[in-house]
Amino acid sequence: MTTPVAAIQSVQLDDEQNALILLDQTLLPNEKVFLQLTTVEEIWDAIYRLKVRGAPAIGIAAAYGVYLGTKQSNAATFSELSADFQAVKQYLASSRPTAVNLFWALNRMEERLKKEAEKSVQEIKDALRDEAESIRLEDEKICYSIGEHALSLLQPGWGLLTHCNAGTIATAKYGTALAPIYLGQEQGYDFQVFADETRPLLQGARLTAWELQEAGVDVTLICDNMASHVMKEGKVQAVLTGCDRVAANGDTANKIGTSGLAVLAKHYGIPFYICAPLSTIDFECKTGEDIPIELRKPEEITTTWYEKPMAPENVKAYNPAFDITDHELITGIVTEKGIAYPPYQESLAYLRTKD
Ligand code: MRU
Repeated sequence: MTTPVAAIQSVQLDDEQNALILLDQTLLPNEKVFLQLTTVEEIWDAIYRLKVRGAPAIGIAAAYGVYLGTKQSNAATFSELSADFQAVKQYLASSRPTAVNLFWALNRMEERLKKEAEKSVQEIKDALRDEAESIRLEDEKICYSIGEHALSLLQPGWGLLTHCNAGTIATAKYGTALAPIYLGQEQGYDFQVFADETRPLLQGARLTAWELQEAGVDVTLICDNMASHVMKEGKVQAVLTGCDRVAANGDTANKIGTSGLAVLAKHYGIPFYICAPLSTIDFECKTGEDIPIELRKPEEITTTWYEKPMAPENVKAYNPAFDITDHELITGIVTEKGIAYPPYQESLAYLRTKD
């Protein structure tokens, strides 16, 4: 893929400088700044503050983070190294609660650590670096594959609606929900994309509108409360979003506002697709009830982005960052191994084991 935005790597390792290089997503679209983070505290803070965000990108950052943290260890034996690894792992795991890719990536790094137990400390550190690199490289392929499967559901000229940002910068490359849009762009599909601004942190306005515009995609920004109107006008033929965690029954956590869109899509008879790598499916969670929802600071609603406060001082504000879309509202879940359809309990379990 040759679009300039697809060439951006939002999460990279600079092993020589012992640094994680992150595109600071809080500064977009006004500034394109790459941060050089060398401590696990800085990496934790970058995840917490959404400098790196989007489920797959958080997982990749955490994998590099646990490698860099363990690399700094002075351990002489496996058990000392393992103790230092665990401390970094637990710390990074506390940065955000909803995107399961964070825990998935950290657990995968732990598996690799254990697998290398008989090796020297230096060899184990090298293996951890290789594992983190693999997670990033695999994500590129996975996202491309999600794009191909999702594109098979769409037709040229369609209007598509998306929420939050599930694009290149939320992954290693291509994105999940935006991957079919990039692939379609290359194949002349001429999609018209509507990007919800995505209150309160405006990932749709700041990130999705920026990404798609940079790539030359026809994108129109709307406020979240305009989605029903645009659907009623007949301008949307499919809704595509990413997600942060899918329960075994297909209930899906994604950016706050997603479940409302799914309700609207059902009302207007518009297909509603979730795009997700299999690493985002948490078979330990039976239903959406088991998915922890991140609560963030009220100021993100009342003051962030405003020159003056836009709510009375000290007003109570409730700021859940995600919501759960009921599996019954989801037309299909697009993964790298194919598309799961209801009943999700069976179709997701099948895709998990498929070669
Ligand atoms: O709070 P954020 O910006 O990390 O929320 C991100 C989302 O909700 C995305 O839709 C999701 O992580 C999918 S990214 C491919």
